[in-house]
Amino acid sequence: MTAPISERLDDFEQARASGRRKMDWAAQHMPICDALASEFETDQPFDGERIGMAMHVEAKTAILAEILAAGGAEVAITGCNPLSTHNDVSAALDAVDGVTSYAERGVDDEAYYAAIEAVIDHEPTITVDDGMDLVAAIHEDYPELIDTIVGGAEETTTGVHRLRAMDDDGELNYPVFAVNDTPMKRLFDNVHGTGESSLASIAMTTNLSWAGKTVVVAGYGHCGKGVAKKASGQNADVVVTEVEPRRALEAHMEGYDVLPMAEAAEEGDVFITTTGNRDVIVEEHFEAMDDGVLLANAGHFDVEIDLDALGDLAVDTYEARDGVQAYELADGRRLNVLAEGRLVNLATPIALGHPVEVMDQSFGVQAVCVRELVQNSEAYDPGVHDVPDRLDKVVAEIKLESEGVEYDALTDTQSEYMDSWQHGT
Ligand code: NAI
Repeated sequence: MTAPISERLDDFEQARASGRRKMDWAAQHMPICDALASEFETDQPFDGERIGMAMHVEAKTAILAEILAAGGAEVAITGCNPLSTHNDVSAALDAVDGVTSYAERGVDDEAYYAAIEAVIDHEPTITVDDGMDLVAAIHEDYPELIDTIVGGAEETTTGVHRLRAMDDDGELNYPVFAVNDTPMKRLFDNVHGTGESSLASIAMTTNLSWAGKTVVVAGYGHCGKGVAKKASGQNADVVVTEVEPRRALEAHMEGYDVLPMAEAAEEGDVFITTTGNRDVIVEEHFEAMDDGVLLANAGHFDVEIDLDALGDLAVDTYEARDGVQAYELADGRRLNVLAEGRLVNLATPIALGHPVEVMDQSFGVQAVCVRELVQNSEAYDPGVHDVPDRLDKVVAEIKLESEGVEYDALTDTQSEYMDSWQHGT
């Protein structure tokens, strides 16, 4: 059985202090979580609940875990990606009262899933996932726990996608909130968060400039829009690839070149996949690429760039820089893969994930959803649920208040007008 991180790190005390510093910095910029923490400390809404979490264990996530524990929960947490954990933050989190952290960076598949099982061993009554690993493991291997599970909350597009597929098959046996799909999450985290943090991570990892580069963005969904906009803002030329006609048209109307990947492969200097799909960049594309291109993925799983095919094509591979693996082809071209094709904004050695303010919003929604599951559990049948709009609005209101932003309210006449069908010309 996997032990908590505190029992596995040689330099635990040093790591704990470093992780705590990162958490304290993040907390200073998370007014939504701060406001909710005050409510939770007073009301203890999670008293008696056990919350299992599988998320990217870095500073902002640690604050979410900490405020849930402050609200009375026993929290057990591990990573949702083998490369995104910050060991020092995991150590600091493990030292928080009421929290046990199993997350460790760089573990192999066996250790990764053993840590998921260690979280499940706490017999969670609520699950908080980023990618659905906990929900899947509980349904497949620990179905006896489902009766006592109040519900779950899911952070990302791919997790919600998998949950809806499971629900359609009649296999999802407890309620789960699609946190990803709320305006307060998706319109900020996926768009601006992924855009800013992916570009920052690529630039810091490679020490290369965006200006004058052609950046190929695969997928023009929420994440792709953010990546394209920020790359364009850094004076790169942006090419978009899509499979959905309206998304392709949107990209075209924004002024980006839209091309099939077979053609984009010949044009790009940097390739960033954001599709949530598999096999987006494959052998025929590698064959067409220039020497020196950068290949990065910002989608949830490491299946968007076919690294097996690239490995087969390569005559040599070597670490060109920390977090950059060069694949040298027979004709001498070098194709450079960042972060082993895993989430580039979270999995390079220097990656920090999304900006703190953005995650404050996402985790604010997570926190109010967990409270809703406890307080109104009878209102939700097994299956995927949209987050009630009132909860999302509460998070927006806290944020606006903390920013000192005032905004208008509808007058009674306006409300009546908006609700009426009789008013016409
Ligand atoms: P989305 O559904 O809004 O967009 C995905 C887009 O990719 C769609 O427009 C779809 O038509 C397109 N697409 C699908 N297959 C394609 C293909 N073969 N070629 C070109 N385009 C294709 O999803 P969203 O919210 O943008 O999320 C995308 C991925 O990013 C998911 O895996 C999600 O979990 C992940 N994600 C990653 C984050 C990060 O921190 N890196 C943050 C949030 C989401």
